Amino acid sequence: MAAINEEQVLSVTHWTDDLFSFTTTRSPTFRFDNGQFTMIGLKVDGKPLLRAYSMASANYEETLSFFSIKVPDGPLTSRLQHIHEGDKILVGEKATGTLVQHALLPGKTLYLFGTGTGLAPFLSVIKDPEAYDRFEKVVLVHGCRQVRELGYGEKIVAELMDNELMGDLAREKLLYYPTVTREPFRHRGRITELVENGKLFEDLGLEPLNRENDRVMLCGSPGMLADCTTMLEERGFNEGSNATPGDFVIEKAFVEK
Ligand code: A2P
Repeated sequence: MAAINEEQVLSVTHWTDDLFSFTTTRSPTFRFDNGQFTMIGLKVDGKPLLRAYSMASANYEETLSFFSIKVPDGPLTSRLQHIHEGDKILVGEKATGTLVQHALLPGKTLYLFGTGTGLAPFLSVIKDPEAYDRFEKVVLVHGCRQVRELGYGEKIVAELMDNELMGDLAREKLLYYPTVTREPFRHRGRITELVENGKLFEDLGLEPLNRENDRVMLCGSPGMLADCTTMLEERGFNEGSNATPGDFVIEKAFVEK
């Protein structure tokens, strides 16, 4: 079994009653590709209680970031939501996952479709210089029920646009499209609806989704993944994997915590 490091919590931000993010120290031995996940958690009754979490930080950053829901009776998140600066947290050394550059064939536009905490891996991908090397545009679409749930993504995108090293690239190539389904906002509707009715592409000034030029990464609930997969397969997209790169890749947002 891969080693599990004990890290220290550096900061915690509560975005809504159900969502929080936190940063931790990072062991110098912990390596990952942007978009991957690992097992993290707490020691409960002397034993590690671990769940899969995507890194929401880039692999060149000194600290780690994570984005989590709070499940009132969730074995881990009912406890994790109470962490504070200075607390200890367990972070597994073995990172894996399919939301990585080498699982996708080359293309012109990279679409990142995330709902809820399915945003997390994409906050790592949008900081990856390789994504901007491989694609002319990187489009981050984050779907949420309510406006307040967008807070973490808005903050990270704004910081990236201002970043000394990555800012120029991000301002030139990154398009951020937050959309909300259950209250008024400047963009409304499910990601699937916005692709089907073309509104997403109209708003961004891009061609409708097509297999020739576009590649897609998906992260969300099982229902979201199923609907998006159908939508992509109808357009001729083939699912990729680490072994066989394709036109799109998917990862379940890890919600049952
Ligand atoms: P909606 O409010 O219409 O259900 P959740 O918190 O349930 O995972 O939802 C997060 C966001 O994903 C919401 O905006 C929700 O829209 C949307 N969503 C839920 N199911 C799907 C689906 N099958 N396809 C696309 N978007 C979905």
